[in-house]
Amino acid sequence: MPPIVAPSILAADFANLQREIEMINQSAADWIHVDVMDGVFVPNISMGIPVLESVKRHANKPIDVHLMIVQPEKMVDAFRKAGADTISVHIEACPHLHRNIQQIKALGAKAGVAVNPHTPVSHLENIIREIDLVCLMSVNPGFGGQKFIEHTYQKIKDLKHLITLNGSSALIEIDGGVNANNAVPLLNAGADVLVAGNVVFSSSDPQQVIRQLKGA
Ligand code: DX5
Ligand code: ZN
Repeated sequence: MPPIVAPSILAADFANLQREIEMINQSAADWIHVDVMDGVFVPNISMGIPVLESVKRHANKPIDVHLMIVQPEKMVDAFRKAGADTISVHIEACPHLHRNIQQIKALGAKAGVAVNPHTPVSHLENIIREIDLVCLMSVNPGFGGQKFIEHTYQKIKDLKHLITLNGSSALIEIDGGVNANNAVPLLNAGADVLVAGNVVFSSSDPQQVIRQLKGA
């Protein structure tokens, strides 16, 4: 099965966002990954609802929203209305994760849980049957262009085991430091979705990089 490839527009040229979205539309990419940061859960602020609305107007692929925010329950409705097809919340930001997931699903979106590098995937044991996606952070969230954390391979294997054991259909998404060199080993370890920011948008031929990841 070819991987699902999700370019992260965090690394795009925000002054030319329409052009960047059209590039993704025409590429082999499957989803568009949108990173939302609040300056509280993570030490950076990125984009929010008005930007998502603009992206949605031009995008012809599903939008995968990664919420790096505290109290996501206050915002998921607005993100869904703005065009999110999948919404992931961070396990570390959600004391009532089960309720958060129910809320996202009731809005008709796919529900994901994002997991920081230090959080064991075993913490997903009692939620894995309920979710469509696990966003495994392979860098500390907050910034694009960081170095891939090698321990992620072990976490993918452990998560795959947990998913199989529980009869879950959750996809495993890898977010951070993905490139043409680690794509194949990540897929071999069990990844289903590759998020890629810098490697795509810093290239002189982004569509070729997307094709390369898709063919990995
Ligand atoms: C990091 C974000 C990632 C980021 C990935 O907080 O969640 O989606 O954009 O960017 P690269 O591929 O540059 O590591
Ligand atoms: Zn992300």
